[in-house]
Amino acid sequence: MEKNKPKIAIDGPAGAGKSTVAREVSRRLGIKYLDTGAMYRAITLKVLRENIKLEDTTALVRVLENTKIQLGDDNGVFLDGEDVTEEIRSSGVNGLVSPVSAISSVRRHLVSVQQAIAAESDGIIMEGRDIGSRVMPDADYKFYLDASIEERARRRCREQLEKGITLSLEAVGAEIKNRDNIDSQREDSPLTIVDDALVVDTTGMTFDEVVDKIVETVYGGQR
Ligand code: DC
Repeated sequence: MEKNKPKIAIDGPAGAGKSTVAREVSRRLGIKYLDTGAMYRAITLKVLRENIKLEDTTALVRVLENTKIQLGDDNGVFLDGEDVTEEIRSSGVNGLVSPVSAISSVRRHLVSVQQAIAAESDGIIMEGRDIGSRVMPDADYKFYLDASIEERARRRCREQLEKGITLSLEAVGAEIKNRDNIDSQREDSPLTIVDDALVVDTTGMTFDEVVDKIVETVYGGQR
């Protein structure tokens, strides 16, 4: 298969709007979208359900080897065939996903799955924390989406409210901050801004402006 479409990496902290933006860019450019955070969340859900201690590396490796994660085209996430789309966004998973993602055996496993998906796709937009640095260092375009902590907490609360869930702004802000700290301070492929990434501070921008910025950069062929 000839592969002409772009490979796009989007990284950034929790709640910067990476998923919604990446999904829309993928629709506009007609390329595949991969939410790598959903994969870390699905593994975390299994760890929680099976009550695995994070220090128990043997048990963890067994879970990794016996878990099937599938991401559907309509954002659906399936864990061993079960639809866990909603459950992977629960507060239990939010609280444990960063410690689980800091474990090297977990990262090794998921990075190799993600790289295999990229290799077989003609164009892809992949979103996470280590896409430009580790998963697709050869991406054609790399973006780092950021926003102030207050703005990210506000967006998360608004998103949840649309689903009928009321959250406290302070609690959401604290949870996001805690995840950012763990994600950017871990030893194995922490969240960083790579030299060849275009940083987009989305704080004062609308959703459409962010999507346009990425699409225009890609169409314009600029980095
Ligand atoms: O993007 P998200 O908030 O759904 O990601 C959940 C967690 O997964 C995030 O806090 C850290 C981890 N993650 C990671 O370590 N590497 C990635 N490429 C994607 C997510």
